Amino acid sequence: MVVNGKLNVMGGIHKMKKKIFGLFMAAAASLFCLAGCTTATDGGSTGSGTTSNTTTTTTTNAGDDGSLQVGIVLPTKDEPRWLQDQAQFEKILGDAGFTNQVLFSQGSSATEKTNVETLLSKGVDVLIICPQDGAAAAAAVEAAKAEGVTVIAYDRLITGTEAVDYYVTFDSFAVGEAQGQYLIDNAPAGTDIPLYLYAGAATDNNAFIFFEGAWSVLQPKIADGTFKIANSSEAEALKGKASLTREEMAAIIGQVSTDWDFNTAKSKAEANLTIAGADMKGDVLVLAPNDGTARSIADVFASDKDITSYVVTGQDSEKASVQYIIDGIQSMTVFKDTRTLAQDSVEMAITILKGETPATDSSYNNEVKDVPAKQTNIVVVTKDNVTQALIDSGYYDAADFTGLN
Ligand code: BGC
Repeated sequence: MVVNGKLNVMGGIHKMKKKIFGLFMAAAASLFCLAGCTTATDGGSTGSGTTSNTTTTTTTNAGDDGSLQVGIVLPTKDEPRWLQDQAQFEKILGDAGFTNQVLFSQGSSATEKTNVETLLSKGVDVLIICPQDGAAAAAAVEAAKAEGVTVIAYDRLITGTEAVDYYVTFDSFAVGEAQGQYLIDNAPAGTDIPLYLYAGAATDNNAFIFFEGAWSVLQPKIADGTFKIANSSEAEALKGKASLTREEMAAIIGQVSTDWDFNTAKSKAEANLTIAGADMKGDVLVLAPNDGTARSIADVFASDKDITSYVVTGQDSEKASVQYIIDGIQSMTVFKDTRTLAQDSVEMAITILKGETPATDSSYNNEVKDVPAKQTNIVVVTKDNVTQALIDSGYYDAADFTGLN
């Protein structure tokens, strides 16, 4: 095998030792990186390798045998959120000297499966995967497990399979709770305030957790008549229930899902406002599940002459939404520091390859097992703390925005 121009003749055990040595070096380097890490490149790639429609490759050399050490599969390039994660992985793994490759599934479970097979054919040791569809991804990770690869579910849980070793995630319940609480704290005075509900894709386990978190705080306000649901008969029928079953949430999400898609969000918001009566206009509240959908929905609400004011949530701290917040078009976002999530995943991979058990702090049931998890906290970002949360923390440059204080 030719690696970086040299003939590689290492045998199995030697090869493994060399790999693990590389990982120790990487561990040291990545810990250093914790202090001095990177600015996210929202909307761009930092990869030094090749980029194609579905693939970005960064290959580095840590005295490795040329096979890949860490393979990462992310859902899509079309949302800035996942480009933030890509930038962090490439930075952390590249600086630490890991051979790695990031592949994008572009909204297709079939492409996702092919991506996993590609990484397996390159000899990957650890697979870090954020599924496009949490249930459909089971087959892909089962193929990885069959080859002895350690599987870390990243951000979104993979459901219905034993083949997930660990889960690295943000506290998604807290995300939904923060969105709901923001609406409560910023609601106009009075009762019967119209509340528009929107959710993520039903194929994403997180969409349920976000909704569950939001419902946990919004439901008492709906039940006591402070808020009235504008666009979901299923939610209206369930307003007396403090906690919902998965099936009940699925019924609501079935009505208000954006599929994590800007265009779906836009057309759903337009359709909702077209049929809304005068009692559902005026000063309104909007639960939007993430930044991409929040911007579409905010644009629709802002252009309706019968909407006097709206409060709209988001999450991810995408650059375009940060600008919307500075400009007063979007009300809040939730900062999920992808530096921490990528760093946690890499450190977990190193620990596993050292033959040790990584530290976890929670577990998530994926329908067949409790998957040990490492959770990261979230931060609510509004106009008031945007500089402190996103600029002072080094996540973005002030120069990327206009009108910052
Ligand atoms: C992630 C969000 C993201 C959404 C759409 C969710 O699983 O947690 O950060 O906005 O998917 O991609």
